[in-house]
Amino acid sequence: MNIRVARVEDLMGMQSTNLQNLPENYVMKFWIYHAMTWPQISFVAEDHMGRIVGYVLAKIEEPNEEGEVAHGHVNSISVLRSYRRLGLAKKLMLLSQEAMVSVYKAKFVSLHVRKSNKAAIALYKDTLGFKIAEIEKKYYGDGEDALSMRLDLPSS
Ligand SMILES: CC(C)(COP(=O)(O)OP(=O)(O)OC[C@H]1O[C@@H](n2cnc3c(N)ncnc32)[C@H](O)[C@@H]1OP(=O)(O)O)[C@@H](O)C(=O)NCCC(=O)NCCS
Repeated sequence: MNIRVARVEDLMGMQSTNLQNLPENYVMKFWIYHAMTWPQISFVAEDHMGRIVGYVLAKIEEPNEEGEVAHGHVNSISVLRSYRRLGLAKKLMLLSQEAMVSVYKAKFVSLHVRKSNKAAIALYKDTLGFKIAEIEKKYYGDGEDALSMRLDLPSS
């Protein structure tokens, strides 16, 4: 298993993995936009044949005049079913978080997760140390609430 930064040629594999794993899907333009705008903070896991089996897609929110500091946001992460519980998601997240700090001086990373998604919540909370910032009611298209989670990042 190889984990490395995502390249433009990985985007079809990332999109396909996303389609197999999650109801939140995105048009190719969205994947390309992220890869072109923040090329250092999205990562993939590939098997020995070079097939994408997991990814993390992330973006940066730039500092603004309202006092918002630079921070990372994880748009999507998933790992194909037969490759789960091998530590791939943990590694993908840690690599993305490190790059958010070293490249963009991100102060924290945020994400949304479905209230019912026990596996992902355990990954974020127990393994990575995220805290629940707030509950966003009916955040998802089907009406499910989201936990908005956040992790402070070390300074570079
Ligand atoms: C959530 C997901 C990305 C985790 O990927 P993964 O590669 O299996 O996760 P890891 O092996 O890195 O797991 C790290 C830790 O997360 C937690 N975890 C992962 N899967 C879990 C599960 N099914 N149940 C409970 N805890 C789980 C555990 O604490 C685990 O550590 P451990 O294996 O030492 O106990 C994967 O289950 C997935 O793709 N799910 C579908 C898509 C999804 O829900 N994405 C998140 C959207 S917000």
